[in-house]
Amino acid sequence: MTQPTFYITTAITYANSRPHIGHAYEEIATDVIARWKRVNGYDVYFATGSDEHSANVEARAKELGKSPREFCDEMAAIFQATWAALNISFDRFIRTSEEVHHHASQEMIRRAFAAGDIYKGHYEGWYCNSCNNYYQESDLKDGNCPQHGTKAVRLSEENYFFKLSRFAQPLLEWIGKRPEVILPETRRNEVVNVIKGGLKDISVSRTTSTWGIPFPDDPKHLIYVWFDALINYISAIGFPDDKAHFMKYWPAQVHVVGKDITRFHCIIWPAMLMSAGLPLPERVYGHGFLSLKGEKISKTRGNVLDPVEFSKQYGVDAFRYVLLAGNNFAADSDFSEEGFVELYNSDLANDMGNLLNRTLTMVEKYCQGKVPPPAAETSADDVPMLEEARALFDKFNAALELFDFSGAYAAVWSLIDRGNKYIESTAPWTLFKQGQTERLNTVLYNLLEILRLAAMFVYPIMPATTPRMLAQLGDSAPDRVLQFPMEARWGLLPVGQTTAKAAPLFPRIEKELAPGKVK
Ligand code: MSP
Repeated sequence: MTQPTFYITTAITYANSRPHIGHAYEEIATDVIARWKRVNGYDVYFATGSDEHSANVEARAKELGKSPREFCDEMAAIFQATWAALNISFDRFIRTSEEVHHHASQEMIRRAFAAGDIYKGHYEGWYCNSCNNYYQESDLKDGNCPQHGTKAVRLSEENYFFKLSRFAQPLLEWIGKRPEVILPETRRNEVVNVIKGGLKDISVSRTTSTWGIPFPDDPKHLIYVWFDALINYISAIGFPDDKAHFMKYWPAQVHVVGKDITRFHCIIWPAMLMSAGLPLPERVYGHGFLSLKGEKISKTRGNVLDPVEFSKQYGVDAFRYVLLAGNNFAADSDFSEEGFVELYNSDLANDMGNLLNRTLTMVEKYCQGKVPPPAAETSADDVPMLEEARALFDKFNAALELFDFSGAYAAVWSLIDRGNKYIESTAPWTLFKQGQTERLNTVLYNLLEILRLAAMFVYPIMPATTPRMLAQLGDSAPDRVLQFPMEARWGLLPVGQTTAKAAPLFPRIEKELAPGKVK
């Protein structure tokens, strides 16, 4: 049987500044899905990268007295090191300055020309160098970009135009046929409204700079940065020359992007693909934005939290967990160190940590540190718990299918919570005193199984925690590649396996934090 493929991408980050927690949020979310698909038997290809031809990148390099290429080399190295430090399992880091990307972009322009979708015209308008987008004068606020608050510049150029207006109907049909192609629904509605409001042709070339990809056959024109950037999704997998690799993974199963750029991905990108005669992506997910203590993350505000420094302090897995399980990915969310500590202590240190600690201590005390045999017959008291455990895979999988990270982990924590309550309701210490060995063994076996399942399901979000938990449960190959849905079956823990002494995975954070201060 051939392995199903799963191609997943993040947006490529502008190379003009260092990665912040908002970028990390998108990378970690994408990584959770990529890891989940891998352990479910998919041949996953995960691409991320850097967007290097923006006017802001050129300006920043100039400020630093560097050439754009030299500056971008440094930034690309910083991005890759950051994602590696956060345990992001990307397969490809695509840079738009790569030769293969230039080649792919020129091929897409050629195809659009051949389809009659590109023509020459004159453009005059207000341009924001941060959005890389034109605005109407009426959209500006005191002459500034409505998004960035920075001065918009007047551009007047002879440009090549792409006939975006021609694609309104085909785009509406694409979305209408399979609405879940754009998630969440709020984003889909926005996109549909924009299309219904009428699409204008867009200018797709610039003559104001030298840092970019030359137009084929007219090299004084450079390809507009958004047209170039979107092509990363196909250049990353070998378009147009490595046909076999490209055809193996295209179309992408999902592009994960922020809500600010969902429109580019759901309007311009599919139109470009249609023009080039290529299949369209199966899904675009437009996630919400992260703020820091209620404030927009911005360099000028000086509230940029370095995700690597933060996770060095508190642990990469804990950072990943709190960021994704603690927020609704579809909506806007806020991050603060106080909120982090609170969720860390309640979910990781208390709920999961206590269950592991108490269970292993009892197994050591009452069963000589060996997994005890459960009774052959299921006790009626245990049925609701077993049912919940057996339903976990479907619930978890369905939630992740919709990028509902908090929902998926709420289901896992509900079982953990049940485990903690089960300890209270069954009181193993009393069973021990009363010599009810069979029931005691069953109770402890069930608790260990809940912990084994928890260890399995935390893998996508806390990949380094799974082997640590499995090792404590006595697994002889804690680092093995997991295989779902098999691992989610109840009752796989081998009886007689020797458990380890309980060691805290997430020690409680006892720390007074100054309110109102973003660390
Ligand atoms: N270069 C373009 C994307 C081109 S994709 C063909 C870009 N770059 S970016 O650096 O500004 O943003 C990269 C990604 O990070 C985008 O998906 C963006 O929405 C996301 N985020 C940037 N700030 C964010 C938050 N504060 N919160 C969550 N996501 C954020 O746009």
